[in-house]
Amino acid sequence: MTLDDPTIRIADPTEDQFAAIECLIVGAFSKAIADHYDDEGQTTFLAHVDARVMSSRVTSGHLARVALLGASPVGYVEARPDGHLSLLFVDVRHQARGLGRRLFDVIREAGGWRRMTVDAAPVSARIYSALGFRTTGPEVISRGIVTVPMLWVPAA
Ligand SMILES: CC(C)(COP(=O)(O)OP(=O)(O)OC[C@H]1O[C@@H](n2cnc3c(N)ncnc32)[C@H](O)[C@@H]1OP(=O)(O)O)[C@@H](O)C(=O)NCCC(=O)NCCS
Repeated sequence: MTLDDPTIRIADPTEDQFAAIECLIVGAFSKAIADHYDDEGQTTFLAHVDARVMSSRVTSGHLARVALLGASPVGYVEARPDGHLSLLFVDVRHQARGLGRRLFDVIREAGGWRRMTVDAAPVSARIYSALGFRTTGPEVISRGIVTVPMLWVPAA
């Protein structure tokens, strides 16, 4: 796959895709982040990405886009109406090829925000830095989840 691969398309997620979206997120989380969280943090995160919970957030106003390889979800991005990025995940088999950046650009343009925030896992902060976010405060821990607050604004 390359950034221009015509077989990857970005779409609004449909109800029947959320189970596969949950699987891809759990796979990426297990590989990159889970070892950095304690049991409580892992439980909190897994509840946040439960298929029915994601679907319900989108129904109630979160913006979301799914990257599809054929009919299979390979990436997912979700943001609150105020421009807070809730989730950005790419299937482990499709990472580091530009898809995460593409999903971020798509959701930002869809929301029309001039300012976005994220509570990044410390291990993911460097990726958000590459996307143009900067750290705005110290690490915070809530229900076992350690995060760093970060802010994106358009480059001057
Ligand atoms: C974070 C994630 C969504 C990024 O998606 P991706 O398709 O792998 O990322 P891209 O290939 O679009 O890269 C985006 C930018 O991050 C940088 N980047 C990617 N992986 C990186 C890494 N491991 N270390 C440092 N920078 C990295 C890339 O260089 C790129 O910047 P550039 O365009 O200036 O070169 C994906 O890797 C993922 O799901 N990771 C596991 C979960 C995670 O950390 N999620 C973050 C939310 S908690």
